[in-house]
Amino acid sequence: MIQINGKGEKVNSLVVYSTKSGNSELIANSIAKDLDCGIVNLNEVEFEDIDLNDIDTIFLGSGIYGGSFHRRIIDFGKFLNSSSSNRTAFLKIAFFITWLGRGKSDLTGIKHFKGILKTQRIDIEDDYFRCFGESFKFIRKYHPNENDIENAKEWAKKMSVKKNDR
Ligand SMILES: Cc1cc2nc3c(=O)[nH]c(=O)nc-3n(C[C@H](O)[C@H](O)[C@H](O)COP(=O)(O)O)c2cc1C
Repeated sequence: MIQINGKGEKVNSLVVYSTKSGNSELIANSIAKDLDCGIVNLNEVEFEDIDLNDIDTIFLGSGIYGGSFHRRIIDFGKFLNSSSSNRTAFLKIAFFITWLGRGKSDLTGIKHFKGILKTQRIDIEDDYFRCFGESFKFIRKYHPNENDIENAKEWAKKMSVKKNDR
């Protein structure tokens, strides 16, 4: 079982991410630590091995590459779509993105992902988090920085509270 909580308790949020150069992983680790919830690196697992049974919110994180999420995120979206009929409860997805800030490539990535989901059982939260991520060794250097990480944690906390208030 991949769902991990330091206190051995059931958690209903799960951080899922994919990364090429580690920027999104930095944010993923910070959110998971702060929320004290499980974390899954899609580059290291088979989708079928991820236990989503009690999960109601996935914090889904990726860089943007040519206006698209990481290939594993796209494949995970397809997996969620095809396996959604096995779920009785709704699943919410909240995106956290690291990027260079090129045009609207963050929104293009989100739109592409939404296009994969044909199911009514998965909701994409409108409120997503984004911050810069260093790339090509000199663009957006030193991002994500401390400030980015604090903002990400604040956002994730807000999303969790919002979720529980519904
Ligand atoms: C091949 C490549 C393509 C990229 N394309 C975009 C893009 O379209 N828009 C953008 O804002 N950033 C782009 N970036 C920057 C990455 O999204 C950014 O560095 C991100 O933080 C990488 O996340 P990761 O370290 O988790 O892989 C690109 C970077 C690479 C290496």
